[in-house]
Amino acid sequence: MRSHTSIAATALMLLGVRAAVSTESDEAALTDPTAQCTAYSYAPVAAALAQFPPIWTPVSAMVSTSDPGYVKFLSINASIPNIAPKGVLGVPDEKITDGYNPADPDCWWTVTQCVTPKVSGVKGDIAAAPEPRTLGYGFDDGPNCSHNAFYDYLVEKNQKATMFYIGSNVLDWPLQAQRAVADGHEICVHSWSHRSMTAFTNEQAFGELWYTMQAIKLVTGVTPTCWRPPLGDVDDRIRYIAQQMGLENVLWKYNSNDWEVGSNNVTTTTVQGNYDALIAAVGAGTFDTTGAIMLTHELNNYTMQTAVDNYPKLAAAFDHIVPVGVSLNKTQPYVETNYTQPSFAAYNAARVSGASPSGSSSGSAAAASGSGSKSTSGSTAGSNQGTSAGVALRVSSLTLGLVVLGAALAL
Ligand SMILES: *[C@@H]1O[C@H](CO)[C@@H](O)[C@H](O)[C@H]1NC(C)=O
Ligand SMILES: *[C@@H]1O[C@H](CO)[C@@H](O)[C@H](O)[C@H]1NC(C)=O
Ligand SMILES: *[C@@H]1O[C@H](CO)[C@@H](O)[C@H](O)[C@H]1NC(C)=O
Ligand SMILES: *[C@@H]1O[C@H](CO)[C@@H](O)[C@H](O)[C@H]1NC(C)=O
Ligand SMILES: *[C@@H]1O[C@H](CO)[C@@H](O)[C@H](O)[C@H]1NC(C)=O
Ligand SMILES: *[C@@H]1O[C@H](CO)[C@@H](O)[C@H](O)[C@H]1NC(C)=O
Ligand SMILES: [Zn+2]
Repeated sequence: MRSHTSIAATALMLLGVRAAVSTESDEAALTDPTAQCTAYSYAPVAAALAQFPPIWTPVSAMVSTSDPGYVKFLSINASIPNIAPKGVLGVPDEKITDGYNPADPDCWWTVTQCVTPKVSGVKGDIAAAPEPRTLGYGFDDGPNCSHNAFYDYLVEKNQKATMFYIGSNVLDWPLQAQRAVADGHEICVHSWSHRSMTAFTNEQAFGELWYTMQAIKLVTGVTPTCWRPPLGDVDDRIRYIAQQMGLENVLWKYNSNDWEVGSNNVTTTTVQGNYDALIAAVGAGTFDTTGAIMLTHELNNYTMQTAVDNYPKLAAAFDHIVPVGVSLNKTQPYVETNYTQPSFAAYNAARVSGASPSGSSSGSAAAASGSGSKSTSGSTAGSNQGTSAGVALRVSSLTLGLVVLGAALAL
């Protein structure tokens, strides 16, 4: 049950005042975007910051030569395909592909949307959900600090998704990252600093992935086995590095362009047109043998609200909407073997029966190691969260907060 401190905190939050929010469920109960996006200190992250590169700065090198990641990097460096870094790091340049060999020897997605590697031994990308009439549902760039309305909606619809998290966002908003696991979503890596991956040296590219994996592990207790390159920018060198780190590369074939509104002539009409075209393609039989993945974002209120607005239409059009890993029958989504997510068949069966198709963890407190979260519901992460019971608990804690508001004000 909630402590007095926690109850008081909830009450203060209702006034839009940022109190000492310290658990995932407290953070998930916040409704005011400003309160959600008010920075907080989280002890496990504060204690580990020196082991990470500066947040939101492109990784320049591994932090230390005694870092286990550095040892791992040295063990693979000699076998990394000899492909030079492309362009200039951090300088987006639309002409970056000029002069590139049209035969595309590096399978550089950015130029040709190549997803089948040219270098032998490098695994191809996942750009579609393999199951027919199925949408592999995922969102890039989170955790966004003010994602509660969006995640609440997914809970209400009993819908799980794949969240491609930026390492720097995870350390900035650890309680928001924990919510993804608590709600039964699948977390994948989306780099440390969100730059073009092909512009990094081998060591830097390794570090962008390594530190994001470590950030997610530190905060949620699980280590992802999938990733998506920012901007889709990947070639066989980067694919190989990720593969050696146990990360499956997930791209897309359809782009909502939701992130791009206001630039490159992209408008909200363009984005709605992209959603509508995907929905029309289901009706036209485009996905009758192989499903779809569309690029969408947990970036800001517009991208998340657009996802919410389009969900009923997507759900009516596709036979199934599932996390990407579920469409692949990836029942062990993380390195840790004590967390499982349902197979495609099990996910769909659970939805039909009205149960929550979330992942489960054996034992207790799989997620949020060292976090002390889950004090409200006592549920193990990934097991019971996201059910109507979980929502009820959150709602009742808010109600409780209202009841004690007077008492809290007197503190
Ligand atoms: C890794 O390999 C690259 C390319 O061969 C080389 O330039 C670099 O010095 C190597 N890094 C380390 C730390 O050995
Ligand atoms: C935007 O549209 C205008 C008018 O059609 C065009 O001149 C311009 O090149 C476009 N800009 C971009 C970035 O596509
Ligand atoms: C999250 O979204 C809000 C708008 O809803 C935006 O103001 C904010 O910058 C975003 N935060 C991050 C970390 O992306
Ligand atoms: C977007 O902002 C509006 C206005 O503040 C809010 O009502 C809505 O819940 C937000 N949507 C999402 C998905 O965050
Ligand atoms: C997932 O498992 C089901 C049932 O065994 C099978 O029919 C389907 O082909 C599998 N899908 C993939 C992508 O492996
Ligand atoms: C799951 O395994 C990880 C290490 O692999 C461990 O830290 C964690 O405590 C385990 N969780 C449970 C619930 O057993
Ligand atoms: Zn992104």
